[in-house]
Amino acid sequence: MASSTLVLVFICLCFVVSSSVATTSPRPILQVTKDATTLQYVTQVSQRTPFVPVKLTLDLGGPYMWVNCERGYTSTTYTPALCGSAPCRLLNTTSCTTGTTCNPPVPDCFNNTCGHGPENPIANTGTSGQLGADVFKIQASNGRNLVSPLTVPRLYFICGNNFVNDGLASGVTGMAGLGRTGASLPAQLSTYFRFDPKFALCLSRSSGAVFFGDGPYTLLPNVDASSSLAYTPLIVNPVTESGFLGDASPKYFIGVKSIKVQDKRVGGFNQSLLTIDGEGRGGTSISSAAPYTVLETTIYKALVAAFVKAMPKNVQKVANVAPFGACFNSNNIGSTRLGPAVPSIDFELQSKNVWRINGANSMVAVNNNVLCLGFVEARTDFAPVIPVIIGGHQIEDNLLQFDLSRSRLGFSSSLLGRSTTCANFNFTSL
Ligand SMILES: *[C@@H]1O[C@H](CO)[C@@H](O)[C@H](O)[C@H]1NC(C)=O
Ligand SMILES: *[C@@H]1O[C@H](CO)[C@@H](O)[C@H](O)[C@H]1NC(C)=O
Ligand SMILES: *[C@@H]1O[C@H](CO)[C@@H](O)[C@H](O)[C@H]1NC(C)=O
Ligand SMILES: *[C@@H]1O[C@H](CO)[C@@H](O)[C@H](O)[C@H]1NC(C)=O
Repeated sequence: MASSTLVLVFICLCFVVSSSVATTSPRPILQVTKDATTLQYVTQVSQRTPFVPVKLTLDLGGPYMWVNCERGYTSTTYTPALCGSAPCRLLNTTSCTTGTTCNPPVPDCFNNTCGHGPENPIANTGTSGQLGADVFKIQASNGRNLVSPLTVPRLYFICGNNFVNDGLASGVTGMAGLGRTGASLPAQLSTYFRFDPKFALCLSRSSGAVFFGDGPYTLLPNVDASSSLAYTPLIVNPVTESGFLGDASPKYFIGVKSIKVQDKRVGGFNQSLLTIDGEGRGGTSISSAAPYTVLETTIYKALVAAFVKAMPKNVQKVANVAPFGACFNSNNIGSTRLGPAVPSIDFELQSKNVWRINGANSMVAVNNNVLCLGFVEARTDFAPVIPVIIGGHQIEDNLLQFDLSRSRLGFSSSLLGRSTTCANFNFTSL
């Protein structure tokens, strides 16, 4: 009797705490939509004077924001970054354009201005472009709903062009780099607005959000996705794959120690692929640019074999549908709150906890009757590859908090288990 009263009191307290309106001072927030054609995660900000809306593809591992300056960039407030100035040092760049003249001066055409190569990891292209700043406006939230937008008078970005813009979703003119540098969007926003260097990514198959700063990150109906996160260290890869000498990689790496299917360890590949070596090869990164998790060939083959083996015998394997390598007739696959009832896939982490991938995040319905394992094999035509790149489909409806002050990743596990999704932030404006 006494203990059941205690439980009751506890439940009531929880109810009071969770229904009280937890909010925070205004923080920038990005609304994200998934482009159905390209599977890119697209967001929108405002920039320049007068303001124009600018659509950008999210690039979690991108070192900075870049914008296509070749497509009608006009602004009375664009400011080039002079060689050797503090913003150039933020990019760790010594490249400097001199002797350029253009009349009238337009972005990407200033004398004595530093630059860096904007990259497009989707088309795998890069170019070179100048660094400059302009007025920047972004939506804001109190952690629960929208408040008035926030403005940064000088937000630094790199000028890209039509070449590096190729392959991005319709209407997109740049990329929002959220990477691990001093110049990325989260770094500039936390510096300017003076909050802890943290941000959270919450993507879904329809729409989602990037929350800058600390929680609450409240999703309807009243679920604070910043509560009860599990943590694992973020690992610095000391070498950038594109080879900017001396620069650490802007990508976010975590320590995956082993991969399990239905609680059984997947063998048959060289486990040292999972560790970053002295040359920066190996390891596991997280990407918003890859729609599905990309695995090095030997890991991919081992995972597919283990998954097919763990699938119940009454589930019929059917012809593969590209780009996937294991497809099944869905008739005998049950459905659960966490998606199709299929063998679980676990990433055992350095922190000794587990990132579990359930059916909603492992399977892709290619039509009404066929479900495919949503992992893909790495292309081998450009080396070196990161052996495990956790991609979009696997992170949807999982909130990921990138906490740079403590160099750790907080992960919520599937929010479907808490009866919400990453599409459930209240983006209704007043
Ligand atoms: C470009 O800037 C450099 C360094 O300030 C200066 O010496 C040079 O005369 C400038 N060139 C032109 C074309 O304006
Ligand atoms: C900048 O480059 C120098 C050498 O080129 C390197 O020692 C340093 O670690 C780099 N800084 C960052 C933040 O990558
Ligand atoms: C695994 O890979 C590492 C690094 O490439 C190599 O040194 C080692 O010999 C490999 N082990 C096996 C069993 O192939
Ligand atoms: C969503 O936000 C709007 C604007 O702040 C507010 O009027 C509305 O009540 C909110 N909806 C819910 C369900 O909380």
